[in-house]
Amino acid sequence: MEYDVAFVGLGYVGLSSAVCFADRGINVLGVDIDGKKLNMIKKSKSPIHEKNINELLEKAIKKNRLSLSRELKDVAKAKIIFLTVGTPSRKDGSIDLKYINQASKDIAIAIKNIQEYFLIVIKSTVVPGTTVRIIKKLERYSGKKNLVDFGVVVNPEFLQEGNAVNDSLRPDKIVVGIDSEKDKKIIFNLFKKIYRKNLPIIYTTPSNAELIKYANNSLLATKISFMNYIARIAEQIPDGDVEEIKNAIGMDKRISKSFLNAGLGFGGSCFPKDVKALVTFSKELNINSDILQSVLTINDTQFMSVLDRLNKELGSLQGRKISILGLSFKPETDDIRDAISLKIIKKLVDKKAIVRVYDPIANDNVRDIFGKSISYSSNSKSCIKGSECCIIVTEWKEFKSLEPKDFIKLMKNPLIIDGRRIFSKKKFSKLEYYAIGLG
Ligand code: UGA
Repeated sequence: MEYDVAFVGLGYVGLSSAVCFADRGINVLGVDIDGKKLNMIKKSKSPIHEKNINELLEKAIKKNRLSLSRELKDVAKAKIIFLTVGTPSRKDGSIDLKYINQASKDIAIAIKNIQEYFLIVIKSTVVPGTTVRIIKKLERYSGKKNLVDFGVVVNPEFLQEGNAVNDSLRPDKIVVGIDSEKDKKIIFNLFKKIYRKNLPIIYTTPSNAELIKYANNSLLATKISFMNYIARIAEQIPDGDVEEIKNAIGMDKRISKSFLNAGLGFGGSCFPKDVKALVTFSKELNINSDILQSVLTINDTQFMSVLDRLNKELGSLQGRKISILGLSFKPETDDIRDAISLKIIKKLVDKKAIVRVYDPIANDNVRDIFGKSISYSSNSKSCIKGSECCIIVTEWKEFKSLEPKDFIKLMKNPLIIDGRRIFSKKKFSKLEYYAIGLG
């Protein structure tokens, strides 16, 4: 076999894993149907913005540890095939398996004539039961038998965008859904070359592994919506401050400090999609999912507090100058999929406000959507200059260095809505300062 491992689908998960595996000395083949993307990768230019990824990519290409192909049939040259294609949302919230289905069929055809036993690893996020159907498809189109000719393993991914390289190399845990001891051995032999010795590997069934991924993301999303709900209460009580609640309850080890930041809500390509998919899946099973429905409802309405505040302070927004700091769905990425900034900008544009935005790296992505209906700044100070209200939408580090005097000096009216609690309420108390969860 020419390659140790192949990745089918070079998105966030596929590409990050591919370069990290290559960095650990694994011979990797990356397959993607997007020729433009492949050309970029070949030139050691990552199509995604991630810390350290270009360096690792350059190294991998130079050392010949990462080869690239547009042809799915080339996966037949690898011992282990990772499926890392996207599973987007359908209109009803369920996951769309078209890429998984197509890739499974193509892989099956590609492996028809392989003699050795090989492994397929499902890394894409799929609802429980999907892997069983993938196995059937693989058997049907390859004429081979699962557990006799090939194995299928479920290995969900937990990396966070913006920290993809580090999370890929040093995850908290590895989850492996397996059906046989033989598959366990094969995957363990690969993973021991990549991860630290004492990393917890949780072996479970494929269906449990599928559900673990959804439970993980849905619980984190629930923590966020819960805190946004507490923030709404804190805003209505004397001297209420959700930050103080967070710090106190976060000290309880059973709760932990992480993912308790109230804000304008969660975005990105994972939480909204995965929570919706679990809700839809529960419906199919006739299980009430009010708990997750509420998580989504809180999230969908959380950004409205900004508009309510604007209405209260400025009245009609027609012709009013509003500046927005931060566009990506979170810091350290240029990803704007399901970003809260988009919802806010749309509402402001509908109300005919004059909107100026700035993000350290996501301006161009937003320009692709809003074009000339808003304007774009190349730094935070020029963005807030002359504006009547500044809204902090993403908590980029560089915004934290803005001082009250900057707003006073540059803005027409120093009204600030801090949607991510980046400023100290004490320091900003002399300004018209409103923040999520602050009474
Ligand atoms: C999320 C999970 O954290 C990863 O473990 C998982 O692998 C990934 O989805 C996935 O399924 O692929 P990601 O979407 O990259 O990762 O981003 P997060 O850092 O989890 O943030 C998601 C959203 O929640 C962001 O909009 C962020 O601003 C928001 N958030 C996060 C809060 O509002 N409050 C918090 O305390 C934390």
